[in-house]
Formats: sequence, structure tokens, C-alpha cells
Amino acid sequence: MQHIALVGACYLDTILSVPHYPEEDSKLRATNLQVRRGGNCPNTLEVLQELLLAPAVSSSGRSSTQARILTHLISPLPARDATATAQILASFTDTSIRHEFEHCLYREAYSAPASSYILRSAATGSRTIVNHNELPEMTVEEFATLVESMSNKKSDSWWWHFEGRIPDVTLQCMRVLRKALGENVRVSVEIEKPGRAGLRELAAEADVVFYSRSWAEDCGYTSAEACLRGEKLPRASLAFCTWGASGAACLSLHDGACFQYCPAQSGCIKIVDTVGAGDTFIAGVLYGLVGHPNRWEAADVLRFAVDLATLKVQREGFRGLAKDMEVLGKPTCTST
Ligand code: FRU
Repeated sequence: MQHIALVGACYLDTILSVPHYPEEDSKLRATNLQVRRGGNCPNTLEVLQELLLAPAVSSSGRSSTQARILTHLISPLPARDATATAQILASFTDTSIRHEFEHCLYREAYSAPASSYILRSAATGSRTIVNHNELPEMTVEEFATLVESMSNKKSDSWWWHFEGRIPDVTLQCMRVLRKALGENVRVSVEIEKPGRAGLRELAAEADVVFYSRSWAEDCGYTSAEACLRGEKLPRASLAFCTWGASGAACLSLHDGACFQYCPAQSGCIKIVDTVGAGDTFIAGVLYGLVGHPNRWEAADVLRFAVDLATLKVQREGFRGLAKDMEVLGKPTCTST
């Protein structure tokens, strides 16, 4: 059996659509208000669920066989009986898959979820996020207990993906995993938040690394490829860097080949919602790497994930992505 576990925070997003980003100390009328469950890993899980439940989407957009994969979310949530928790669990595509949430950390003394207030600007397509989170974070001890409780499944194949938050805790969690699961585990990490200390140490410990454009630019890189070639990754086999409308790049650390892929329709698409576009990209990569091991080339994985994220930014939320991927063709990536 194959498992994908996603470790990261879960938010309730309040998204205000505004014509332009407001000036400080001004008043502005929003054109729309939407409340939906968010969080990088939960967003990735929602898209993965869609892809895994669909008949099977191939890298060429045609049907193919799909291995059975169980997904798990590891995230602090409010109390089990809190209204917000019910709202969060109900937001996933298939709420009948209860095992997915059995490893969440229910904080029984809390009823409020972590919250994000997001300004989505029609003028630029940007999304500005302000968070508030009172839920106690996961500790290394909790994580170790959780991995131990999954010990009956130790002989299965595991993929653990971490949102790069609280780097010192995440680093120790990665080491706990390697010790407990040895060769049966692959680890990926998202390096997103500009300036957050300790992220490079996380990247050094992972098998697959996802860099965001904002992190890369903050480090002085002017392209996705420059970031991928500039970072030192002693352990990773693959690294990805997204670059907004310019698509993304992927570096194969085995042979140094770097692939770039820019969506064909880039520049003429109507941007509707960029909240969670990076999370969707990660879902596309995990689907390609875990669902089709050895059958998809790195360039196929990259193309699939970029096309998926490009479809996502043209719609509200994440619904219907798997179905719409089926109709896309298979363009080629440029290799350098
Ligand atoms: C989008 C997102 C939102 C959430 C915020 C957390 O990537 O996950 O859904 O509120 O980022 O940082």
C-alpha cells in the first residue's frame, strides 16, 4: 500500500475580492466575500483527492492505471465537536474517507480555527494574506507518537510532505521519520516564506524540494532555474521552483538537467483566484511522482503540475480540476 501524508497548518480563509489593493487608513468596498477552508497542505490534499478519485489522469491527459494511494492530513484542528472542525472536514471532496483525518491533532480546549484574512486584488491578481492562529502547534513528541501509531503500516511505502513552517520542529520530525521508516519513506518540503530562518536546513534533509518565487526572489534569484542551480541540495533527487505566470522549473539532481515549462496560454488567461495555486502545483507533482512512479519523466511531472495550477487560477477554489486536466494535450518542456 502507498500512503501520502501531508503535515501543515489548516486555516479558515475569509477572502475579500477588491478592485485594487487598498491604501493604508482608507476605505474600500469589496466586490465579493467568500469563506472557505484553506491552508497549504489541506489545499494540496483537496486537489490530490480529486486527482486520485478521478478515473486516472495521465501525463498525456489520457487515462492510465492508478496505484491505490491513501492520503492523510496531519494538522492541528479545534476540538472534535467544534463547529469549525465540522466545517473544515466537510470541505473535502470525499468526507467518507475518515482515515484521512484520524491523525489530525484535535485541540479540545479550542473552538476557533486558525484564520486567514485575504485581500484578492482584481487589478494585479495578487493575494495578500494576514493570519491569526491560536491553536498549539504540533510538537516533535506528538509527531513521534503519531508515527509510532502508524507502525503497523511500516512495511508500506510512505511519502511525507511538510509545509516548511517552524523549521526546527519540522527538521526533527523528518529525522524521526527516517529513523522509523528507513528506506520506505520519501520526504518533500515546501520552502515558501521569504526570510524564514532554518528553511535551507529543511531543504537539505528532503528528497524533493519545492521553492516559491517569493522565497527565491528574496534570496536574490531572478529566475526559477537560477534558484534551483544556486541552492545546495545534498540529498534531493528533484527540486521545483514556481515562477507565477512564467510557469515553473524542475532540476534533476542526478544528471543536472533543468526543465522549464511555461503554460501555452500564459498572458491571455483570465486570473480569477490565485489563492492556493502553489498548493495545487504541489498536488500535481505529488500525483505524478507518487501515483506514477518511474512512469512519468520529471518533465512530464512538471508540465502536469503547471497545467493543473494554470487551470486552478482560472477558477474559484479547486473543484473540477481533475476532470478538466483530461482534455489537455501534452506539450514539451525545454531542457537546459
Ligand atoms: C494559500 C493558503 C491559504 C491560507 C494561507 C496560509 O496557499 O494556504 O489557504 O490561508 O495560505 O498561509
